[in-house]
This record gives sequence, structure tokens and C-alpha cells, in this order.
Amino acid sequence: MNIAIIGTGYVGLVSGTCFAETGNNVVCIDINEDKIAQLRAGKTPIYEPGLDVLLERNIKEKRITFTTSLEEGIKDAKIIFLALPTPPGKDGSADLQYVLGVAKDLSNIITEYKVIVNKSTVPVGTAEKTAAVLAENLDRSLFDVVSNPEFLREGVAVEDFLKPDRVVIGTTSEKARKLMDELYQPFVRQGNPIYYMDERSSEMTKYAANSYLAMRISFMNEMANLCEEVGANVDWVRIGMGSDNRIGKRFLFPGVGYGGSCFPKDVQALAHTAEEYAYDFKILKSVMKVNDMQKLILGKKIKAHFGDLKGKTFAIWGLAFKPETDDIREAPSLYLIETLLSEGARVKAFDPEAMDNVRAIFGDRVQFVDNQYDALDNADALAIVTEWSEFRNPDFEKMKSSLKQPLIFDGRNVYALEKMQELGFHYESMGRKTIA
Ligand code: UDX
Repeated sequence: MNIAIIGTGYVGLVSGTCFAETGNNVVCIDINEDKIAQLRAGKTPIYEPGLDVLLERNIKEKRITFTTSLEEGIKDAKIIFLALPTPPGKDGSADLQYVLGVAKDLSNIITEYKVIVNKSTVPVGTAEKTAAVLAENLDRSLFDVVSNPEFLREGVAVEDFLKPDRVVIGTTSEKARKLMDELYQPFVRQGNPIYYMDERSSEMTKYAANSYLAMRISFMNEMANLCEEVGANVDWVRIGMGSDNRIGKRFLFPGVGYGGSCFPKDVQALAHTAEEYAYDFKILKSVMKVNDMQKLILGKKIKAHFGDLKGKTFAIWGLAFKPETDDIREAPSLYLIETLLSEGARVKAFDPEAMDNVRAIFGDRVQFVDNQYDALDNADALAIVTEWSEFRNPDFEKMKSSLKQPLIFDGRNVYALEKMQELGFHYESMGRKTIA
């Protein structure tokens, strides 16, 4: 099938590449000429495991092409995906200017029936708004607008796209449903479902899923904080509760707060939708408050230990908002760095992928090193912010000899308490007793 993807950000590029991988002809469209030139040369602007190999293969087989021309890009497409940014506006609501702007442009150039799909996370009612903009210039028989939210996780986005737990499609048009079904069948061959529903329910499903997961994390973060007070170990509590099938083992890890491009933005946008409908969504408000507090928690623990941070040096392992990505949007590391610098401390940081992005924010106010151990040289303590695999089983003796003193603040519970005790580290983690 011929399809077009407008917007080559995270969602657009992964979707386009994976649609090409299942044999479709895909044209990716973006207004950014540099990005398009780079993509034509087979270079991905984002770090996502497995994406580069798929992209290269599909470019070679000419199943995926790139253009800056909207008209040329959508000419032959039966389905057009909108994978455009929906950044939070000043009031927390999702800003629809890009989605509706492109809908307007499309209304001037579409000449035969096409399905327009909202793949970006957009508030309830956006499918109707998009249809209304299109209908200003275009006969209603020439298009349908479908909601098809994306649930992919950064770091495993390709796998999530190729083998989704479910596909959600919001449409009340039989014609659009048939085309969407044809496109998605190859992705659910293992038997996972495609759920068809109305547009509003589909739009709501995405917000409900992300807000629920964010709530789960905030709940566990508060649970960890309370475990510290009462002298329980949150690791045991997590395992004990997660074995209940109704709860499940995944996504119960306490940490330094959720970050990334989705959870913070989506929770905020859903809270805003509730407000618009004069509904007081109390849990959502608490989820945001807890997360704001949790992002500062490692800084607080460090301050409580040292008192004055002036002239002290801290090593940070992990800057990305989670492992296997270079994404630092809403990353807890940024809050820790800000706290440490504002208290007059020095920061030496290492991350396998995200250092360039953090350098763009802090410049030479932070020292970036090429090797995780170099960060420890003469540092007063190590703070672990992102649980990259390579931090899990390091050379502890080397760490001890590099650090001024054997002192670790672990925001992700990477190490076993017994091990830290045995090695003689002072070790503070999340929701577990301090090893002193
Ligand atoms: C998320 C959703 O999982 C995905 O379905 C949606 O489409 C986009 O948003 P992503 O932002 O890539 O994906 O990250 P995810 O792996 O879900 O993690 C989000 C944040 O929660 C990270 O900061 C992570 O560190 C944190 N987290 C996750 C925890 O603190 N504890 C956990 O147990 C799980």
C-alpha cells in the first residue's frame, strides 16, 4: 500500500520504517531540509536500537523515500499519517497548531479519497477538529480522519511497533476501517488484537494508558519513600505485590521520577482536559506533584549527607531519562545537575549516549568524560541516575580507588545491599536502608 507520513520525529520515523519493512511504499515528509537530506543518506537523527539497519535496508529496496514537498509526498498515498509535535502550551494543554496547520494544507491539495490518521498523542476531540479543518476546503466524501495512537517505548520502539500488544484504531467509517485493517494485519499475526472503537475513546485510551503508568510509578516512588521511614525494603515489597496477577511485575520500579517526552506531557494534558470539562481529577494532580518532588530526591539525599556542597565534586552516571536512548527530555539528571551546580558543587558526568544533548544545555558548567570510571577521579561521591546495563556490574575496586571515599547515591537501586555492605561502600538507594 502507498502511505505517507508527515513528520519524521520519533514516532514518524519508526512508523514509516516499520511500515516499509512490511512491504508498503512509504514517503516520509518533513519541513526540515537538513533532516530530510540526512535521512536520504540513511542516517537516523535519533538513537534507537535496530532502526538504522531497517532504515538502510528499506532505502536500498526503495520502499521508503524522503521529501520536503507535501504535495509530492501525499500524491499517491491512500493513508496519510500525521506524526507531528503536540507540545504542551502555556496552560498545559496540547498545542494543536502543527496538526491543524497541516490539515489545512492538505485540504488544498487532496483530490481523491484519503484516510488521514492522527498518530500523535492528541486530546479528545482532535479527530473532529481535524475533520472540520479539512472540510472547510474539501468534500466530506474525499477523506476520513482516524485516531490511531502509538504506544511505543523509546529504546524498544522498533520491536514495539512490529509486535504491538494491541493496535487501537478509532474510526466510525467502514471504508477507513478496511484500509487500516489491511495495513495493520501483518503486525498482529501472533494473535494480538486490533481494537476498533470510536475516535474519542481511541484518543482517550492513549492518555489513560500513559497516565495510569505514570501513576503506578508515582505510587511506587511514594511507597519507597515510606519504606525508608518504616525500615522496610521496597524491593521485597515490589516483588511481593507484583506477583499478584492483578497487579503484575512490570513497571513497579521506584526511582528518581518519570521523565521523557510522553508521561510528563500526557499527564499534564489529561489534567487540562479534565479541567476543561470541569472535572476535578484529583489523582492526576497528585501524580504530577509526587513526580516533581521525586525528581529532586537524589539532590536532597546528597545535601542531607554533606550539608554544604560548596567545592565538592560529584560524579553522575547516567543522563538520559532512561537507558538505551539519548533522549534527555524531562530527564531527572537535569534537575540533579542544576541542584548540585546551584549549591556550588562541581559535576563530572558520563552517559553512553546522551552527553552531547546535556552539553548543549549546560556547556562547560559540567565536565563530560568518555569513560564511566573517569567521572569518579577525585569525586566526593557517585550519583547513579539512569540504570544503563554497563553500570550494573562495574569494577568496584577501581571505583573505590578512584573516588575520594566509597560513597554512592543510587537513584535506581542498581546494586544489592549485601554486596555494598561486603565491599564497604556507604550506599544510599531508594526505599531501602542506608548501608553505612
Ligand atoms: C512511554 C510509554 O511506555 C509508551 O507506551 C508511550 O507510547 C510513550 O511513553 P517512554 O517515554 O519511551 O514510553 O518510556 P518508559 O519506558 O515508559 O519510561 C518512562 C519513564 O518512567 C522513565 O523515566 C523511566 O525511568 C520511568 N520508570 C519506568 C520508572 O521510574 N519505573 C518503572 O518501573 C518504569
